[in-house]
Amino acid sequence: TEIAFVLGTRPEIIKLAPLVQACERQDIEYVIVHTGQHYSDNLDSVFFDQLDLPDPDYDLAVGSGPHGEQTAEMLVGIERALDETEPEVVLVQGDTNSVLAGALAASKMDTELGHVEAGLRSFDREMPEETNRVLADHAADYHFPPTDRSKGYLLREGVSSFRITVTGNTVVDAIHRNLDIAREKSTVLEDLGLDGSRYFLLTAHRAENVDDEERFRGLLAGAHRAAEAHDADVIYPMHPRSQSRVEEFDIDFPPRVRAVEPLEYLDFLRAASSAALILTDSGGVQEEACILGVPCVTMRDNTERPETVDVGANRLSSCDPARIERSVREMLGASDWENPFGDGDAAERILRALPVTAPSKEVPQ
Ligand code: UD1
Ligand code: UDP
Repeated sequence: TEIAFVLGTRPEIIKLAPLVQACERQDIEYVIVHTGQHYSDNLDSVFFDQLDLPDPDYDLAVGSGPHGEQTAEMLVGIERALDETEPEVVLVQGDTNSVLAGALAASKMDTELGHVEAGLRSFDREMPEETNRVLADHAADYHFPPTDRSKGYLLREGVSSFRITVTGNTVVDAIHRNLDIAREKSTVLEDLGLDGSRYFLLTAHRAENVDDEERFRGLLAGAHRAAEAHDADVIYPMHPRSQSRVEEFDIDFPPRVRAVEPLEYLDFLRAASSAALILTDSGGVQEEACILGVPCVTMRDNTERPETVDVGANRLSSCDPARIERSVREMLGASDWENPFGDGDAAERILRALPVTAPSKEVPQ
């Protein structure tokens, strides 16, 4: 095997799909090792279906749990899978616990590690994602930062420049491949009664927001106030972590906020591209808003995607209702910026930089 993709969550499936497809095109042998960090159909199998991915070769079914236990169980399973398949390179993407486990497993073995979306930094060590991405970067042999800025962070931390290839973000590849299909096939706007109406799309799932009752209530109140001020609806496809906090905190949604089940990828792309504005605390959704030309307000105190703020596509509002309302007012209507995340050929660039080859085609006798 040339490449082992280690993945486990929704954003990793979406952002590694273009690489899997590039391997298919180029006849490069690969295996998919799924940690099982995400397992609900609407966070997992629906993305394999919509993105035309083959079933994982290994499904470790680790599931949810305390971070240490979850990461440790993944490490055991990934090591076994790598031992059996002996890949030249392990590829991980992003900053989840699955990424950390994949990075640790590869670094303990005679296997090289490539980190897709390397070099992102929020400089907020309270976030589990920040620790995961820093550790993965320092275990990696090949770094694929999306932008020059993320390359700069890696250099500053002592990563050798010969290990770094700036590639753009594979999320652009995924959008290029799927946006027209989404516009053609998805009926999400009709299904939700949004066709032709003005709405904001909200996603919020980050632990530091939804596990904190005050912040969670604050961001919902801010979304409501902003929507009220502009006579819009707020559609909130809710991550299961947030669903369970809504129950735990006994939260009633403010009138303008409408919670729905997590959306399939094509439905999400269609809903995002037609929104008047996106409110989020997601990493990937900040990028998608910027690429789709939809203004974004990020309900966090910091972002590891500062490029989106620099080009004028995004603004940080924390979870304070008044700041959210003000940020929405300032951002609404903006749309004229350049996409900083590349041209949609990130996957091809990554494969070119890796020491992998397609098996030489057999010459017929
Ligand atoms: C994880 C990542 C986060 C990423 C997000 C993508 C870490 C530390 N966090 O957060 O960076 O933005 O994925 O969506 O790796 N649950 C289900 N079904 C599932 C998965 C989870 O119901 O398929 C529920 C469980 O109650 C679980 C909770 O969601 O306890 C949190 O899941 P977990 O994978 O620990 O973290 P995420 O919040 O999904
Ligand atoms: N997404 C989706 N359906 C949803 C919400 C998000 O398909 O209901 C997709 C979205 O297109 C993006 C990705 O999930 O590509 C972002 O994942 P998430 O917000 O869970 O994680 P993060 O990027 O914050 O790690």
